[in-house]
Amino acid sequence: MEVYSEKQQIIDAIGNLKSKKQTLGLVPTMGALHRGHLQLVKRALSENDKVVVSIFVNPTQFDNKNDLIKYPRTLERDIELLKTVSANNILVYAPTVDDIYEGKTVSESFDFDGLEFEMEGKFRHGHFDGVGTIVKRFFEIVKPHKAYFGEKDYQQLAIIKKLVEKHNIPVVVVGCKIHRETTGLAMSSRNTRLKPEYKEAAPFIYETLKTAKVKFGTKSANKITEWVEKQFAKHHLLELEYFIVADAKTLKPVKRKSNKKAYRGFIAVYADDIRLIDNIALN
Ligand code: PAJ
Repeated sequence: MEVYSEKQQIIDAIGNLKSKKQTLGLVPTMGALHRGHLQLVKRALSENDKVVVSIFVNPTQFDNKNDLIKYPRTLERDIELLKTVSANNILVYAPTVDDIYEGKTVSESFDFDGLEFEMEGKFRHGHFDGVGTIVKRFFEIVKPHKAYFGEKDYQQLAIIKKLVEKHNIPVVVVGCKIHRETTGLAMSSRNTRLKPEYKEAAPFIYETLKTAKVKFGTKSANKITEWVEKQFAKHHLLELEYFIVADAKTLKPVKRKSNKKAYRGFIAVYADDIRLIDNIALN
């Protein structure tokens, strides 16, 4: 498997593939790969001749310095894991901060038509400008036909679709379902940092989401939110940051339900100092 750390190297390799008319998928990641990431890679391999997996812990999307420092970095292991999926059809692009940001580690400023001000945007300042900056840069370097993102970060997926639409980027954005542990906990690179008692407690997040979905049939968004808040107030280990019932398209909080719209429940929870997010389709 080819692993590139310099922009020009990957640009040359991709130019070579494109001259052979090969189709190209892109899976952007921050590494510490798990089965959720691999599912995106497998889907990309099934729909393209070659797949670029980028592995880069992007400093501009971290509002919390400690989170950036503690983010797991496991490049060797990631490469071994990717080899188990495909030895020949994956190209890894793992740049340094300098290579990708060329000495200016700052975000562009984006207008995502308000999507950026909801949920994660309220709690992680500048996060989506950082995500938009790096993903746009990867699109410019790799020029993929298709790019794959997980519904685990549903707001991010919506924002990438908006980025592509507003900047007329010629790429198809593919959303992939949330991959979970058998306990129901959504897979995340952050899960490896959970202490055992928090790891044991964390499936409570998805259990609560599933019950909220059942309640959504008969109860108002407000009532469900109150119920979720109460469940976490009673919990000794997990601290709720937010639970929101939102329109699946605009991501705006729901006041009154309509039969014609799709809704999702979004949640962010602290397990010790580790922030976990999850979401569920409610109808
Ligand atoms: P990262 O958290 O590494 O996630 C990379 C991709 O994997 C994202 O599209 C994310 O939604 C998806 N993913 C993570 N866990 C998943 C799960 N359990 N099920 C399905 N998909 C899952 O998201 C990022 O990195 C960064 O913000 C990035 C887009 C790479 C920009 O830096």
